[in-house]
This record gives sequence, structure tokens and C-alpha cells, in this order.
Amino acid sequence: MLHLTLRQMKVFDAVARHLSYSRAAEALYLSQPAVSMQIKQLEESVGMPLLEQLGKKIFLTEAGREFHNHCRNILQQLTDAEAMFAEFKGMSGRLVICVVSTASYFSPQLLAEFCRRYPKAQVSLNVTNREILLQQLANNEMDMAIMGRPPEGLDLDATAFLENRLAIIAPPNHPLAGEHNIPMSRLAEETFLVREQGSGTRIAMERFFAEKAIRLTTGTEMSTNEAIKQAVQAGMGLGILSLHTVSLELEAGRLIVLDVQNFPILRNWYVVHRKGKRLTAVAQAFKEFLLGEADGLVGSAAA
Ligand code: PGA
Repeated sequence: MLHLTLRQMKVFDAVARHLSYSRAAEALYLSQPAVSMQIKQLEESVGMPLLEQLGKKIFLTEAGREFHNHCRNILQQLTDAEAMFAEFKGMSGRLVICVVSTASYFSPQLLAEFCRRYPKAQVSLNVTNREILLQQLANNEMDMAIMGRPPEGLDLDATAFLENRLAIIAPPNHPLAGEHNIPMSRLAEETFLVREQGSGTRIAMERFFAEKAIRLTTGTEMSTNEAIKQAVQAGMGLGILSLHTVSLELEAGRLIVLDVQNFPILRNWYVVHRKGKRLTAVAQAFKEFLLGEADGLVGSAAA
């Protein structure tokens, strides 16, 4: 690992551009001996000459030329980072987030923290189901989406940031309550309330049972997680829902999670935008916030 300082790089950059110690010194408001000293130390660190003096003229060695390219890149990156911080500090602007309905159970908590950190950001949150959200993504109607894994081949940039567990939900007086390791085949005797076509929860559930070659009896179809929760409590059937949606009911003892083999179904939440979309500074900050902090703030809701 090279031991270089940014200061040495800045001095070297100035000398390489001016090809003169005195003009570099002037540009940097340093004395000429100070510039020579920095270059000497730099050459010692890298272990080879970067400049050579022929007569009165200074030239870059071959390594010096290569290194100058690296220096320019590094210094440019630093300038970009500075600009980025400046923008964040005064950061304002609109951020349109669309989430699938199941993600609406934890997204507001994340947005609340994000808005505390970036008070000038004006965030709007749209809640819809997976199918509609995919259409909105295709129409470029938002900055960022939160959803289950998006389909391949749609030119989307999707990064997983949080675990999502789907569990079998029952009323507390269900005959299977308290049983352990219930075989999946036993589920064939139950009726399941299902989310509407186009729901990510529904797709995940259907795919899971198809893989396990189990046929479920499905009862009434309902278009919200809330309706399914109410119907399960009322004894209309069992539900398969994300644990994010039922934490309050589980805590209050109004619903329970059945301990069935191979459950919970493990999925992930993804932050999604169109590939190649130019993210605004606020959108970029939001994405980084989700990747870095969501897990610590909301976790994956345990049963
Ligand atoms: P949904 O999506 O709210 O449309 O069911 C959830 C998911 O994609 O996991």
C-alpha cells in the first residue's frame, strides 16, 4: 500500500501541469522549497522518479505521466464528493416513492427517519399493488419503488435491502394452534384467503405451493392485507401474509402464526428504479439510506 498524502498529490498535480516548481509554488501559495520537499517525499514513497530535470526544463517521467492521470482522477473524485456534500447540506427537492401495499407497513417509518435527516426533501408516497407499480415504473412515473423481486428483463435496477417473511396466519382458536412442525400436506384441508391477482404476495404464495406440488383450496379473494387480516380473525380461513403486516395483531393475540414446515417463505424487499435513470441527489440519498439503515430501523419482523 502506498503512503501518499492528498497534499503530495495536489502538489504533484500542480507541478505536472505547470512543469515548473516556481509556478506550481505560486499557484499553491507555497514556497518553492516546500514544493520540492513534497515532490521528494512523494518520489521516496513511490520508489521512483516522477519528474526529471534536463537543463532548466522539467519533464514527467513515463511513470510520472501515468501517475498524473491517477492523481487527476482521485482529485476529481474528491471534488465530486465535496459537491455532493454541499448539495446534501442544502438538499431540497421532490422525491416520489411508490411502494407495493405490503411495504406500506414499514415504509412510513423509514420515510419519517429519512425526512428527519433531510428536512428539505418533499417526499410523496404512493401505495399500490405490484402489477400497477410495474406499469408506473415502465411509464417513468416515480423516482424509486419498493417492492418484492421485480421480473427479469424489464431493464430495472433492483437491490435487495430488507428481508420479508411470509407466514401462515390463523385465528387464535384454530385447531392447529400450538402444534409444531405441521406437515405441509395438512394445509390441503384448510381454506386460504388470497390477495388479488397482480399482488406480489399472491404470486409468491402460488409459486411456493406449485414448487412443493401442494394444491390449496382458496376461498374469497381480497384486495388488501387489512381485509385478509379481518377475515382470518372472523374465521373465514387462513391467510398467507408478510409478517410486516401483522405485528400489531400478533402482539395483541388477535392472530397467530402457525408453525408449518418450510415456513416462513423468505423473500426480500428491493429498492427499484429504471436502469440508467439519472437519480436526483435526494433519490440517491434515499437509496443509500435504505441500503444502509432499513434493516436496523425496521428489521424483518419476526414471528
Ligand atoms: P403486494 O406485494 O403488496 O402487491 O402483495 C408484496 C410483494 O411484492 O412482496
